[in-house]
Amino acid sequence: MSLLDDEALWSSSVVANCAMNRERGLASYRRELGVSLPPASGVWVDLCCGSGKALAEAVRPGLAVVGVDLVDHHVPARDGLSFVVAPVDQWAPAGPVDLVTCVHGLHYLGDKLGLLTRVVSWLAPGGRFVANFDVLSVRRADGSPFGRALTKALRDNGFTHDNRRRLVGYEGSGVPRLPFVYLGADDRAGPNYTGQPAVHSCYEVLS
Ligand SMILES: C[S@@+](CC[C@H](N)C(=O)[O-])C[C@H]1O[C@@H](n2cnc3c(N)ncnc32)[C@H](O)[C@@H]1O
Repeated sequence: MSLLDDEALWSSSVVANCAMNRERGLASYRRELGVSLPPASGVWVDLCCGSGKALAEAVRPGLAVVGVDLVDHHVPARDGLSFVVAPVDQWAPAGPVDLVTCVHGLHYLGDKLGLLTRVVSWLAPGGRFVANFDVLSVRRADGSPFGRALTKALRDNGFTHDNRRRLVGYEGSGVPRLPFVYLGADDRAGPNYTGQPAVHSCYEVLS
């Protein structure tokens, strides 16, 4: 199987296309992630934010909301709400973050596990990360899923994983080391559980 590097993936029609739902509002974010939103104060970073509709609904005094997306098409920024147009794979916040979310964005990334570990390094003490995550999207080079080897590695490194709701999360600070080496992405994986075409991310186990 030939695998894509990041540059090739970002220009794939699977990663940004008009059939994607980029318009979820705050109530939909709450349902998807099962968390109380918005946080009362601090810094909230939403990765793969789409239009930023949910973020615009969350703006309030004392809260700084930052949306990051590959596509430069979002609601207007204003006091308390800013946007960064960048691949999340290459972006990092300037300071500690209290809440990091990613609603149906990990499905389109190359190095999903690399992002999980980077995100944890951004969290302020007591901070939280939560994202939709399909374990079946993480594969070996031969295309087979890692199954329990992956969920065990996540839990061993302090991540929470809700298989029924397909959520991954982390609370507090830490230095997770997931023992996988990223090989590349496959944008021909077909639809995932959402019904939309998604990206498989291929790894080998670090020996
Ligand atoms: C299904 S949409 C979800 C948007 C938003 N979270 C929502 O629920 O309304 C996925 C988003 O991921 C973005 N995306 C895909 N790959 C990305 C990457 N490498 N870096 C940043 N954004 C990315 C797409 O541009 C798209 O806006």
